[in-house]
Amino acid sequence: MKKILKWIAIGVVCLIVVGFIAFLYLIPPFDMLPREAFSQPHAAAVASSLDKINDPVERALAKRGQYIMSISDCNGCHTPQGDQGPNWDEYLAGGAKFEMIKPGTAHSRNLTPDKQTGLTRRTDEEVKRVLRSGVFHDGRIFEPTFMPWPAFTNMTEEDRHALVTYLRHIKPIKHDVPEWSPNSSAPLNSFYPYDYAEHEKKK
Ligand code: HEC
Repeated sequence: MKKILKWIAIGVVCLIVVGFIAFLYLIPPFDMLPREAFSQPHAAAVASSLDKINDPVERALAKRGQYIMSISDCNGCHTPQGDQGPNWDEYLAGGAKFEMIKPGTAHSRNLTPDKQTGLTRRTDEEVKRVLRSGVFHDGRIFEPTFMPWPAFTNMTEEDRHALVTYLRHIKPIKHDVPEWSPNSSAPLNSFYPYDYAEHEKKK
């Protein structure tokens, strides 16, 4: 009797082990979604009117800008996120909130060519200056952990020009983004590089 029980126990353990291995083998590989799952919605969102640009030089520049945009993750911060990932209907319309006790609160900005709320309010040079040295049109320096401009400073002028050209041709979306709100106890324009420990001591 004891022997039978032993063999039953061994059989059950084997079944559990084989079942577990089969489970591991058969579950869908979570980390192996096809790249199209990510690239197709993005591609559909950006399939814009670039082909309608008559001037071939401008068209080529805009397409290069689109490519640079797609590999620099501008979209990750500048397209509003919904429950299912980026809200592609609002491609690059901004609004993501970035908040730190210091230096304050910023929202990613509307990069679409909307006249009242978008990048149409900035000149080409003002947009390039943001990418080159993190300086906003009013002279304020962007907090680099919010807008990672130091990662973009090594772009060539041609790349920056291509990006701006692209941004001038995407779909305009009216989306008002709240203005920057600094933390009152941290002085403006001095947070990069800024010694917060020193600041604390002075208080
Ligand atoms: C990690 C998030 C993040 C990424 C990535 C990012 N940005 Fe930004 N961007 C921001 C935030 C936040 C602001 C506003 C900062 C502030 O007000 O202090 C901003 C502001 C800007 C502005 C100023 C717009 C205006 O109203 O004058 C431009 C232009 C811009 N970003 C372009 C880009 C481009 C082009 C890329 C990709 C090459 C990019 N950003 C990548 C977060 C990001």
